[in-house]
Amino acid sequence: MTHDEALMASALEASAAARIDAPPNPWVGALVVDAEGVVRGLGVTRPAGGPHAEVVALAEAGPAARGATLVVTLEPCAHQGRTPPCTEAIVAAGIARVVLGVRDPDAHVDGRGVAALRAAGVAVEEGVLAGPVSRALAPYLWHRRTGRPWIVLKVAATLDGVVAMADRSSQWITGDAARQDVQRLRAESQAIVVGAGTVRADDPALTARLPGRTLEPLRVVLGTAPAGARVRPCWERSAPLEDVVAELGRHGVIQAMVEGGPSTASAFVAAGLVNQVVWYVAAALAGSQRTLGALADLSTATIAQLRRWKLTSVEQLGDDLRIEMEE
Ligand SMILES: NC(=O)c1ccc[n+]([C@@H]2O[C@H](COP(=O)([O-])OP(=O)(O)OC[C@H]3O[C@@H](n4cnc5c(N)ncnc54)[C@H](OP(=O)(O)O)[C@@H]3O)[C@@H](O)[C@H]2O)c1
Repeated sequence: MTHDEALMASALEASAAARIDAPPNPWVGALVVDAEGVVRGLGVTRPAGGPHAEVVALAEAGPAARGATLVVTLEPCAHQGRTPPCTEAIVAAGIARVVLGVRDPDAHVDGRGVAALRAAGVAVEEGVLAGPVSRALAPYLWHRRTGRPWIVLKVAATLDGVVAMADRSSQWITGDAARQDVQRLRAESQAIVVGAGTVRADDPALTARLPGRTLEPLRVVLGTAPAGARVRPCWERSAPLEDVVAELGRHGVIQAMVEGGPSTASAFVAAGLVNQVVWYVAAALAGSQRTLGALADLSTATIAQLRRWKLTSVEQLGDDLRIEMEE
């Protein structure tokens, strides 16, 4: 690993602290490093409306930023948004060189940040640890490129893929550690989507119970939720899923989590709208007699049509497995 890559790895690690509160802004990490290689400033994106990571790092560095290198995971903005352009702050602070992870595909940025810095005489090195940075920012980059949220399908099932028993009881199939992990996934999502069947069966609260978390995700019910249900849908509809997803994207939802049930999960998979699957597997067996499979409404005509995914991580959480897959 080169020195620049090692610094980028630190900026990337720091950016994780902004993952939950930064959206609809990207969760960015930035370091100001002096000529001796000493880190003089560290910043991560503050909650929306607050300063961007670069500005936080520059403020911490103060006069030490003059002639220093700024290492930042995402291209700095060059436009006036809720905060002034970061490129101006970088130039004004006297930064000599910027080391960049990936360009920002947002229509307001998209290379303009790099161009503004170079025009001001700042050296720019691009694409440092671009792979890991792109993976960490995948939902943001996807949203800005397509206008649609990154869709995460979450399933909690037995080893044989069952999500509800013959009497339709389903709480809880997985243990505490897996359910705590679901809370984090919810907190990272700006919307949670469930079908009306799940609301009728379980009346879930769908809250993100994490300490320090202030904004609750938008709770979206497809179909007709019963009166008095705990979930208060912001959109309640049976519109084509593509339209629902596009509308969420227009409302600044970067990541939406689909929490089931089987009809809804099947519909999202069949429509090809799922970017990532997070599948919790309990070390338990239910059998298929009158039980409900995780994708009960989905059918595969022949082996050549099997939907295959790329396995991206497998982790043990208590007595459960957490399996992550991407398209
Ligand atoms: N273990 C788990 O992770 C988990 C998670 C969730 C649910 N579950 C279990 O799943 C069961 C409920 O299953 P379900 O299949 O009935 O629930 P569902 O997918 O939550 O709800 C199905 C309903 O969603 C509405 N809907 C609207 N647009 C839709 C679309 N494009 N595609 C599909 N549905 C659409 C329809 O409601 P209308 O009839 O009002 O039009 C439909 O009847 C419960 O027993 C629950 O406990 C388990």
